[in-house]
Amino acid sequence: MTATNIQVTTSDSVNQDGYHAFTLGEFEFRRDEYFVYISWPTGQHMMSIDSFLRALQRDVAWDFFYGIVNFDGVFGTVNHYGTVDIFAGRYNDAYRKAELDYSENHETPVIREAFKSILADWTNATFDPFASPHETGAAWGVKNGDNISAITRRRVAANRMVAVPGDEQIRTDESGFPVNRHFKDVDQGEPILEPEPGFEDEVVAFSLFAYLSRSDVTWNPSVVSACKDSLFCPTTEEYILPIIHGNDRVEWFVQLSDQITWDVEDRDTGAVRSRVTMKAGDVCAMPADIRHQGYSPKRSMLLVWENNSSKIPELIASGQAPTYPVEF
Ligand code: PHB
Ligand code: FE
Repeated sequence: MTATNIQVTTSDSVNQDGYHAFTLGEFEFRRDEYFVYISWPTGQHMMSIDSFLRALQRDVAWDFFYGIVNFDGVFGTVNHYGTVDIFAGRYNDAYRKAELDYSENHETPVIREAFKSILADWTNATFDPFASPHETGAAWGVKNGDNISAITRRRVAANRMVAVPGDEQIRTDESGFPVNRHFKDVDQGEPILEPEPGFEDEVVAFSLFAYLSRSDVTWNPSVVSACKDSLFCPTTEEYILPIIHGNDRVEWFVQLSDQITWDVEDRDTGAVRSRVTMKAGDVCAMPADIRHQGYSPKRSMLLVWENNSSKIPELIASGQAPTYPVEF
């Protein structure tokens, strides 16, 4: 169903717990103290509100990301880079077989606005959806203020490289971000640069480990360097990736510290494909036909390497490019 002219509507009144309800096309969203309730013409679904808000936060902050953002095995979005599908059961074998899956396509600004409104209304003052569970208060309960500054944080997105003049500077001591409790052993020294005379403005370097040790968010890649379409997107991880990411391209993972275990499933059906445990120094490529979710028992540093070319999804979908990166 295409519903390009449909707007977001917000209920005039709040429910007994103090929250508004939202409508986007035929989807309706309601929350109470513990849960979100999502309904559409052929069904309904509920999720724990903390998981839902963590996933919603990523979808909003990443502007629908690459490919598919599954909030869980039922609900999610597909980015078509200009429009977005919002779906229920579309990548779930049982829903498909029962013909209960449902999806709508919306212009990106419409769904962006809807999701931002839900996130703002349903995130209480105590809850930071970007923080690790250990470093935030609870999402539960009746409406209790808001946390607009936390949910509107901007990710670092360098045009060339962090620390290059004109790009965002690294977070140093003066930034106010403390070294995370799990990264107290990370050397805070910065590299010594000795450029040839005349090149002082062109040679830059920074300690990526020191930079990441001060990250106050989890599962939120920032772009620290861009070379044409090659983006280095490091991030700090703790607990569970709040979404199950369905790839529309290959992406590489370099485990910079500690350990993450990845559940890897078939992108379209959810059938289990593998479990991958990555230890510091391990490198892997996630194929373009899977979906994955990571588990990080301690805060860890992960480098996600993305090819940002807008041509890739179509090349892969049409079979002109393979779903895997290397032929051994
Ligand atoms: C991913 O889907 O590949 C992904 C997303 C966020 C992260 C790490 C990996 O923090
Ligand atoms: Fe991914």
